[in-house]
Amino acid sequence: SDTPVIAVDGPSGSGKGTVGRRLAGILGWHYLDSGALYRALALAARRAGVDLADGAAVAALAPGLDLAFEGDRVRLAGEDVTAALRSERCGEAASRIAALPEVREALLARQRAFRRAPGLVADGRDMGTVVFPDAVAKFFITASVEERARRRHKQLLEQGLDAKLPDLFGELAARDARDAGRRHAPLVAAPDAVVIDTTGIGVEEVVARVLAEVRSRL
Ligand code: C5P
Repeated sequence: SDTPVIAVDGPSGSGKGTVGRRLAGILGWHYLDSGALYRALALAARRAGVDLADGAAVAALAPGLDLAFEGDRVRLAGEDVTAALRSERCGEAASRIAALPEVREALLARQRAFRRAPGLVADGRDMGTVVFPDAVAKFFITASVEERARRRHKQLLEQGLDAKLPDLFGELAARDARDAGRRHAPLVAAPDAVVIDTTGIGVEEVVARVLAEVRSRL
């Protein structure tokens, strides 16, 4: 495809989602939150009573997954599941099914279908390594686990949700370890990715750096 893709990968809470959305907005490009696909599939599997360790059974649900992205909201079979998808319970379930090769394979074409003119900003773990290896620019956005837990904590409190910092820290560290340690498409920076550590850096500055790099390549 001639349609350009910008890959924005990194661990959860690194700010890649915010940066990716901002970038897509500025460029007027489409945006793919690939984590939401894994989260939605995990939710659908749980609701269907499917064993989250059964790769073939979970993958079999993927083709019928009736997902619609409407701005920041996600609908599953018409139901607004945005809040359910954001929960750490769902992130944890997503990370479990994401380790299964059948599941990753089943979501591949679906992710690639988001590549439409004038361009796509794709956010995830393996956008630059597996799904869009020909991306015109690849970023790996990271931050210390302490900083990511603090950001997540602040976000949850702002949403009026109760959360304990040490719990969040433990959950993030466990999910990182699973994502980085899995055999299929582990969380790793592509060799040609620009790595940005956002610890102690504000979103504006990260967006500015990413944008400067993108402009030099388009
Ligand atoms: O990015 P987010 O936290 O929403 O992703 C949820 C989980 O989905 C991650 O912990 C990861 O295991 C999985 N994921 C993945 N590959 C992607 C996006 C998400 O394995 N491209």
